[in-house]
Amino acid sequence: MKTTISQVHDYEGKEVTIGAWLANKRSSGKIAFLQLRDGTGFMQAVVAKNGDEDETFQLAKNMTQESSMYITGTIVEDKRSPLGFEMQVSGIELIHEAVDYPITPKDHGTEFLMDHRHLWLRSKRQHAVMKIRNEIIRSTYQFFNENGYVKIDPPILTGSSAEGTTELFHTKYFDEEAYLSQSGQLYMEAAAMAFGKVFSFGPTFRAEKSKTRRHLIEFWMIEPEMAFVNHEESLQIQEQYVSFIAQSVLSNCKIELNLLERDTTQLEKIQAPFPRISYDDAVGMLKEKGFTDIEWGEDFGAPHETAIAESFDKPVFITNYPKDIKAFYMKPDPNRSDVVLCADLIAPEGYGEIIGGSQRIDDLELMKEQYEAHGLTGPAYKWYLELRQYGSVPHSGFGLGLERTVAWLSGVDHVRETIPFPRLLNRLHP
Ligand code: 4AD
Repeated sequence: MKTTISQVHDYEGKEVTIGAWLANKRSSGKIAFLQLRDGTGFMQAVVAKNGDEDETFQLAKNMTQESSMYITGTIVEDKRSPLGFEMQVSGIELIHEAVDYPITPKDHGTEFLMDHRHLWLRSKRQHAVMKIRNEIIRSTYQFFNENGYVKIDPPILTGSSAEGTTELFHTKYFDEEAYLSQSGQLYMEAAAMAFGKVFSFGPTFRAEKSKTRRHLIEFWMIEPEMAFVNHEESLQIQEQYVSFIAQSVLSNCKIELNLLERDTTQLEKIQAPFPRISYDDAVGMLKEKGFTDIEWGEDFGAPHETAIAESFDKPVFITNYPKDIKAFYMKPDPNRSDVVLCADLIAPEGYGEIIGGSQRIDDLELMKEQYEAHGLTGPAYKWYLELRQYGSVPHSGFGLGLERTVAWLSGVDHVRETIPFPRLLNRLHP
């Protein structure tokens, strides 16, 4: 019977065959312990020597790291392993012998591992992080599907910028100038006027010259947009969504969280509602904490966000930022025109901003003024203004950065480990 490591729990006491690679090995005179991996998980297989002429034992003993095989044996319970089972091997068919696999069980430097990312992905740690990434994606679709959202795919090649022009990747579109998408938001606003509640999930590109543990050049963003939803209602959707994915990871990725030694008591606390603090109060809090480098009207950097997050054990919303440091489309606070109806959601434990969102301007005249103030003239914006011309309604939306969220929930320090093939300031390969 052919099966996979993830399914062996159904085969206790039975003989099965698994297609696998050799992740690691140790052997003594009479017994070889093979660490197998098959993509679905990791499992130990035990090969006992059965006389001097035992070919299976000789094959196991001499097998090189990352060689591939079909391995057959009986599944038995093993309480010590995270999987709970191991295999007692009866036969091995070698498929391909790997010679001099470069990533050995010893420690390697980060640059070496990044140069071998196509192989590094096979390691236990990277496998765990990617499984958590997959669970966040899966539970994202579940959350929005169960709550009546329609998945809409905005274009990647665009003729307009959504988040300021300095970080755009330019490309030729036949005779026209085009950009790689920085955010699908403007298109999602059009979609919300057609479908009510929508979400997108796709790659976004920022030619940011930032070399930090939170910045990627290409990252994936989940962007919901909701018609007839105001700023406050949007914050409630955000805290419910983030709680849902955190609890899904906690329930469905136990082996992975354990392998990554993630402190799961921190994740258990991630339940709505989340605390909120205004930008004004955040500036005051930073001054109290001894920051002398921040004045009202300036944007927060990573150290400021970390210092604010330290006061809370759940993600915290920083709301109502000054208008001048935020995007052109954000709706001014009706009670105070110098701040806008927006919020950034800052993850606890120093993982930084994971969501940016706002209520959007729905008044045509005000939107026109904003365009002019930001120097954003040109035919590409005509269609966006038309959304305010035909049945404009209050609407809000937000963008959650997938890789920062994976880093936070996995407890991984740097976003380069949270995406299969990271694009960084100095890295386009592999
Ligand atoms: O705050 P940002 O720039 O918001 C927008 O793009 C809005 N248009 C979203 C919307 O309202 N539909 O980005 C949103 C999130 C950030 O909170 C962060 O998590 C992530 O995207 N992000 C990055 N992640 C990795 N590398 C980068 N360079 C990132 N820039 C933003």
